[in-house]
Amino acid sequence: MNNLRPVGVIGTGKYVPEKILTNSDLEKMVDTNDEWIVSRTGIKERHIAAPDQATSDLAYEAALKALESAGMTGSDLDLIIVATITPDSAFPSTACILQDKLGAKGAAAFDLSAACSGFVYGLATATSFIQSGMYNNALVIGADCLSRITDYTDRNTCVLFGDGAGAVIVGEVPEGRGFKAFDLGAEGAGGSLLQIEGGGSRLPASAETVENKKHYIYMNGREVFKFAVRVMGTATIEVLRKAGMDRSDVDLFVPHQANVRIIQSAMQRLELPEEKVVVNVHKYANTSAASIPLALVEAAEEGRMKAGDTVLMVGFGGGLTWGASVLVW
Ligand SMILES: CC(C)(COP(=O)(O)OP(=O)(O)OC[C@H]1O[C@@H](n2cnc3c(N)ncnc32)[C@H](O)[C@@H]1OP(=O)(O)O)[C@@H](O)C(=O)NCCC(=O)NCCS
Repeated sequence: MNNLRPVGVIGTGKYVPEKILTNSDLEKMVDTNDEWIVSRTGIKERHIAAPDQATSDLAYEAALKALESAGMTGSDLDLIIVATITPDSAFPSTACILQDKLGAKGAAAFDLSAACSGFVYGLATATSFIQSGMYNNALVIGADCLSRITDYTDRNTCVLFGDGAGAVIVGEVPEGRGFKAFDLGAEGAGGSLLQIEGGGSRLPASAETVENKKHYIYMNGREVFKFAVRVMGTATIEVLRKAGMDRSDVDLFVPHQANVRIIQSAMQRLELPEEKVVVNVHKYANTSAASIPLALVEAAEEGRMKAGDTVLMVGFGGGLTWGASVLVW
């Protein structure tokens, strides 16, 4: 990527809905307790969208902030990518809804489905388009309303998920900065470990699919955990190799926020001290595509990176998929 036009992050914004669902709230809903949730996952609370909020509403709030921080308006955008598994509806895409609301007239707009890896997939897609000269300024958003596809009678999953949106503007940056490498991948054979079976062309929505809870997230937690620990290690090592760097070059590690134990195992593998790792899973839980951008944007807001710092992002999720990137801030 070194001889191409340098492309990086030129604006950031995030949004989480107001309502907070705590572990003690969940104790009243299912057979669980705060001690179990905190010790197994690190999660203390999560934000939940209001009944009248859809994914595009969360994404819109994050997008407005990202545009403002880049000193832009919607009309400066020529590409909008929304990574989500909870679009407002099957179609039109959530990106098209945003394109209209933001006044990004004529901008290309599409959704991208790579579950919790979606934001990194989106960054790689936008970067490639901009490096090729096809577009100049892209809005990349990870946004999800997992509360809409969570079964709040299933303690195995309902404690894990939350809602939110994180947005960045991707565009040309000064020489030496920007994205240095991506490592995207998938293991489709593991798709059934983490999925929603109903509502698509294989199993269209019916009274029976609703009755059988086929529109909620199903997850084999133990198997997904093993996959996560494995690919967090392999993807980070591979992306650093592609960037011609090693782990000692990493100034800030921004991992997918699914479970603090998965983050800790990656930290150990990379031998990273706590101050170089962004962890906010205790506040937001797993927000799928929004997880990495929420962590990245929060770290930026807290002044945790300065120009020239090397930021390593890595995510994993349904598909199964993974995505890692090295970004010089
Ligand atoms: C889901 C996860 C937290 C479970 O943690 P774990 O340590 O693997 O726990 P186990 O699955 O071994 O379950 C242990 C016991 O706790 C129980 N349990 C599950 N959820 C519980 C809850 N919310 N409260 C109390 N007990 C719970 C289980 O029923 C099981 O009981 P059993 O042994 O009697 O069957 C963990 O597997 C995980 O994080 N997986 C990856 C999830 C992930 O990252 N998903 C998103 C990918 S993007």
